[in-house]
Amino acid sequence: MIGTDPHPSPLPAGEGTIGTALHSGPFPTGEGAADRNVLDLSKVCVQFDGLAVLDELDFSMKRGELRFLIGPNGAGKTTMLDVITGRTRPTSGKVTYNGIVDTARHREHELVKLGIGRKFQTPTVFHSLTVYENFEVAAAYKQTLPMLFADLPARTRERIEKVLDTVGLSGRRNDQAGILPHGELQWLEIGLLLAQDPKLLLLDEPVAGMTRPERDKTGQILRSIAGSHSILVVEHDMAFVREFATTVTVLHLGKVLSEGSVQEVQNDPRVIEVYLGHRHEREGEHASG
Ligand SMILES: Nc1ncnc2c1ncn2[C@@H]1O[C@H](COP(=O)(O)OP(=O)(O)O)[C@@H](O)[C@H]1O
Ligand SMILES: [Mg+2]
Repeated sequence: MIGTDPHPSPLPAGEGTIGTALHSGPFPTGEGAADRNVLDLSKVCVQFDGLAVLDELDFSMKRGELRFLIGPNGAGKTTMLDVITGRTRPTSGKVTYNGIVDTARHREHELVKLGIGRKFQTPTVFHSLTVYENFEVAAAYKQTLPMLFADLPARTRERIEKVLDTVGLSGRRNDQAGILPHGELQWLEIGLLLAQDPKLLLLDEPVAGMTRPERDKTGQILRSIAGSHSILVVEHDMAFVREFATTVTVLHLGKVLSEGSVQEVQNDPRVIEVYLGHRHEREGEHASG
């Protein structure tokens, strides 16, 4: 269903949607807005079949932060993203977005409109369209029906240019998305996500399958959009984490095991124990076939 949202949201959705976040300040201002956390999880529990996957999880992130989330398989990382985006409802506990939004009171698509963007969940890339046409489709996303058939306003076009520049695809605008190599396709997806004007970006393993130069460029893109956006990145690639993370949160058994700089968490005996334990398990698995 296409139409204007009759309910004004606590966060301005952004008129043209594209690049409002790149133009305006990092976040809408308001009383106490500057020191608000973008995200607070308080004693969040999720159970599947009676098993605790998130176990009284407490987690906070400041606005503008680029935070990395790591942890062994099954730690609950994806479930945590599912809870933040409203895909999975906590069994108990509370998730607060932007200091004021109780996410339990909103459905998944409403949280997208409120500025929580997740890669893989956004309209996916149309392979038969050019890079630029993909942005045009994304720009029409929140427009009223007549807008879909009108030329995009000059201001929106300017914003598309900014996003293209941010993700390094200006020179690719007329190429069909389907011919882009893996890395550029991922940047296009990140760009299309930015086109929806999110305040909080959730990325699950964005550098999986990338070459080293692609990985480094992705890190640079994330750095360049941090500050004006808050970004939570789930990542397995430790080389990438070491290079680009400032603060890392380690999740284990549905709880925060450790948090701090890369150095701090790497030297944390609890983290070493968990990762070594897992390596031994895996070696054991290989050994047994
Ligand atoms: N929909 C589901 N139903 C039942 N169990 C699930 C479901 N989703 C995840 N799990 C279980 O929850 C645990 C955590 O999964 P997940 O959040 O995907 O971990 P991670 O992303 O850290 O690898 C795993 O043991 C997984 O099998
Ligand atoms: Mg996962």
